[in-house]
Amino acid sequence: MLDAGVLLSPDYLQGGYELPESVADNRVLVLSGEVVPLLEKEQVNWGELEKARAIFERTSDQRLYLTILEALREEAPQKPAAPSGAFPPPEVVSSYQVEAKSWKVQDFVSHLRARLTVLSRMLREHKDLQGAAALRRLQDSSGHVCAIGLVREKRDTKGGNVLIVLEDQSGWAKILVSSSKPELFRVARDISPDEVLGVIGSKKGDFIFANDIILPDIPLSTELKKYPGDCAIAVISDIHAGSINFLEQEFDRFLQWIRGEFGTEEQRQLAKKVGYLFVVGDLVAGVGVYPGQEEELVLPGLAAQFKRIAELLSRVPERIHIIAIPGNHDGIRLAEPQPAFSPELAGPLLQLPNLTLVSNPSLIRILRSDDFPGFDVLLYHGYSFVHYAESVDTIRSAGGVDKPEEIMRYLLTRRHLAPTHGSAIAVPDPACDPLVIDTVPDFFLSGHLHKSAVANYRNVTMICGSCWEQETSFQKKLGLHPEPARVPVIDLRTRDVKVLKFGE
Ligand SMILES: [Fe+2]
Ligand SMILES: [Fe+2]
Repeated sequence: MLDAGVLLSPDYLQGGYELPESVADNRVLVLSGEVVPLLEKEQVNWGELEKARAIFERTSDQRLYLTILEALREEAPQKPAAPSGAFPPPEVVSSYQVEAKSWKVQDFVSHLRARLTVLSRMLREHKDLQGAAALRRLQDSSGHVCAIGLVREKRDTKGGNVLIVLEDQSGWAKILVSSSKPELFRVARDISPDEVLGVIGSKKGDFIFANDIILPDIPLSTELKKYPGDCAIAVISDIHAGSINFLEQEFDRFLQWIRGEFGTEEQRQLAKKVGYLFVVGDLVAGVGVYPGQEEELVLPGLAAQFKRIAELLSRVPERIHIIAIPGNHDGIRLAEPQPAFSPELAGPLLQLPNLTLVSNPSLIRILRSDDFPGFDVLLYHGYSFVHYAESVDTIRSAGGVDKPEEIMRYLLTRRHLAPTHGSAIAVPDPACDPLVIDTVPDFFLSGHLHKSAVANYRNVTMICGSCWEQETSFQKKLGLHPEPARVPVIDLRTRDVKVLKFGE
């Protein structure tokens, strides 16, 4: 040790530590029991540590030394390397890191303009809308016209028709939809403010009398891709770890199943095929999400809640890639896009080598190879869903929040996850609108309504996860009817979906 220029402190020798083979790389001067845990660490400034130690010995003021020691011990450990699983890791196509700041009116204007630009481009691909002109140029025209714009206003007229005011950067146009065209009238009544659409009609005086309304929608030609191999995906959401109502036993059964230790032979075989597990928000119960929530928490702090969810998810076999987004309970800002969980908040989760954390919403691609284009998976927690369940006639009369698939289909036709301002809290990024559904996904996964649903719309598989929390006082108030402990599992070879039930 003397040869290496290292002093040994008495506690080091008395502590029974083994003498290190080499200490030269660490450039440590005094080897004591306190610094043993730091020897493995790469970025330790030994000089600073020794200086602080010298101050402590000279003045008996140990604050600086202890602070540095503590910071070094707590330094975020490196994420372990991803396991070599049977399937390739997911590709993150888009995950947003838009910072929240104070926005100006101009930012909102630019944000809506960005939305109009993208959705207009989609609408112009429709053969009947290719000649759509700027709305200002329609003012003096008459006869057959086609128009594209953002819905500034929609209301019923005294005569029982629907009036829509469309606007674009150049001006606006008034569209009248007559109740004598029942099919078109139904479409018009379901229109939400701030969505972007196309209209074909005839112009008479100040009004365009609509003959057709065209939504950006999912193309009819969307292909139902099937994977030429054995792989399945499973979808869970709304675990709410830390809640007094968390369904521990049921979640334990799910974990046993995904490990191949629970269920019928057929169900165990299905578990073996699972390559990707999607966790679509509300991983933890959160703190202060609704009045009186503190009475319904067993783990009152976010740190303990994230530790718990990390423990639970660590039981998922490492060969399965887990992809998780935040929801409205997860202790981060509500404004969407919500960024991926940060290490400060969700440190224990980062220890899972098979976990990918992305924003809400985000787009993930799985299983792309030279022979297969891959599946595009759109993830959105679903905070906006309640608004459309209540405000859109067709959805409300079909069952509202009990019909997640109706809401999801509606939003796919709009190619937007929360078109109406205020249906979700949005970050008005002036450069783009991340809630536009730009890419047609193969899967649209969500949660939030605590009710599982599976449906197909133009070959897009829509899935809403259920939940792992019994009904809370808050959900009763919201009119939600939870259907917990269900897990939709999709066989990617056949695109068949099975909903496994882990409840009683
Ligand atoms: Fe939830
Ligand atoms: Fe939620």
